[in-house]
Amino acid sequence: MTKNYKLFIGGKWVESVTGKTFNSYNPATGELNGVVAEANKEDVDLAVKAARKAFESGPWAEMSPSDRGRLLYRAAQALWQKADMLAEVESRDNGLPINETKFIAMPAMIDGLEFYAGLANKIQGETLSSPGNRLNYTLKEPLGVVAAIVPWNFPLMLTMWKLAPALAAGNTIVIKPAEQTPISILEMVKVFQEAGIPDGVINVVPGYGPTAGQPLAEHPDVDKVAFTGSTATGRLIMQAASKNLRPVSLELGGKSPNIIFDDANIEDAVNGSMFGIYFAQGQVCAAGSRMFVQESVYDKFMDAFVKKVQNIRVGNPLDPTTQMGPQVSGEQLARIESYVASGLEEGANVLIGGKRNKDAGNGHFYTPTILENVTNQMKVAREEIFGPVLSVIRFKDEEDALRKANDTIYGLASGVWTNDIKRAHRMAKGIKAGTVYINTFSMLDSTAPFGGTKQSGFGRELGMQALDMYTETKHVWVDLSREHLNWYGV
Ligand code: NAI
Ligand code: MG
Repeated sequence: MTKNYKLFIGGKWVESVTGKTFNSYNPATGELNGVVAEANKEDVDLAVKAARKAFESGPWAEMSPSDRGRLLYRAAQALWQKADMLAEVESRDNGLPINETKFIAMPAMIDGLEFYAGLANKIQGETLSSPGNRLNYTLKEPLGVVAAIVPWNFPLMLTMWKLAPALAAGNTIVIKPAEQTPISILEMVKVFQEAGIPDGVINVVPGYGPTAGQPLAEHPDVDKVAFTGSTATGRLIMQAASKNLRPVSLELGGKSPNIIFDDANIEDAVNGSMFGIYFAQGQVCAAGSRMFVQESVYDKFMDAFVKKVQNIRVGNPLDPTTQMGPQVSGEQLARIESYVASGLEEGANVLIGGKRNKDAGNGHFYTPTILENVTNQMKVAREEIFGPVLSVIRFKDEEDALRKANDTIYGLASGVWTNDIKRAHRMAKGIKAGTVYINTFSMLDSTAPFGGTKQSGFGRELGMQALDMYTETKHVWVDLSREHLNWYGV
């Protein structure tokens, strides 16, 4: 039986105003996962109104920060109870191997909620160092209605990175899931509803970018837009939000360098670099998709690397022995194919992979791929492929590595593999990116700020830093004397 999903607005599950729906498919099998109500401009407007109302008055507006934290923590505990179900729903939605949703995405998502639940009553202003005749202090206030526009690669985790700090600070939220993966977010919101989140605090408007995302980003009653997705769409979001001069945070694409020096522990570098590129089928904004290998260790490293990559098991995401699932859509699969073709045209060669994986099933399966003899100027080294395609580039020394690593329009993540402690920290200072991993790659932690520089975007999610994006600082100036008042002396 097909499952039907509605919009979630003002605490109610409702059809869209137009009555339109869209289908959500399993990318591994082509099976229909569900029929989902499709939000358009009018639905977005209703959702923003509901979020505004919940922000201005009623239980949420009156709730103490401690109670807010308690409620979010209660929702987190309920999410742990449902974590396996949510992992399965998400794997069906986006094709991530069940081990990756179950043991990485869900725990990271819920840990994030617990982290910000604990911070709800620790968001505080300061008393400034004023002279004795006055008192100056700051208040940290919520912004109001937050719009979250999220992609399909980690729907729940990337939603939570916005929802948790936004709600901990007292805001309300309208979430626009990606059209490919609306279902896990709707299932998650049910858990919040059962945990007692007041009506209108969380609203979800599934739909398409131009017809639901755009009206949300340019809505005059939205106070902040938080976006994760492509750099191209990021530009549109910023333009849309500029109509009302709303603050925006953008977590966009990347072409992250992963640098292997000859003094690295080779086994660790092989394992970590594999995870860095093939985790989530390469559909990771921080993916280490440009691998720089020092000439002096090139053959030794690549031998070991290729041997292991060949053994990655591609298959149905719900099978717990599967290590790589399908790409999220036929569109993404076609993109990957055209990038690989362009790499070959420009003179790279396929070391392994470079083709679809028909053995894994009828879904959008590709094969773990290594492109060799890539130069940093080729398209496959400059543009985000967002698939299991690694571009390998040789380098001579530290200076060469740093120059090549930074020669990109992006600056999200980066990795350095070396046992020389001074070199590691020299590289950490030199690389222009939001995150530098040393002897690891693609690790995440709720306490650690994550975000980009250059065209990878701006703003920091996670950590204490994310709270800055969901609060406004108000300054209060209190005069304790009457000294400066009569300026005109009249
Ligand atoms: P996208 O950036 O277009 O989609 C992300 C979200 O933005 C979705 O919810 C989508 O509906 C929404 N959106 C699209 N157009 C919009 C508009 N005009 N106004 C408001 N919202 C809009 O990503 P897409 O097209 O699914 O994937 C294309 C490429 O983007 C990928 O190949 C990859 O390179 C990159 N990407 C990066 C992600 C990241 O985590 N940084 C996540 C997803 C995609
Ligand atoms: Mg798009």
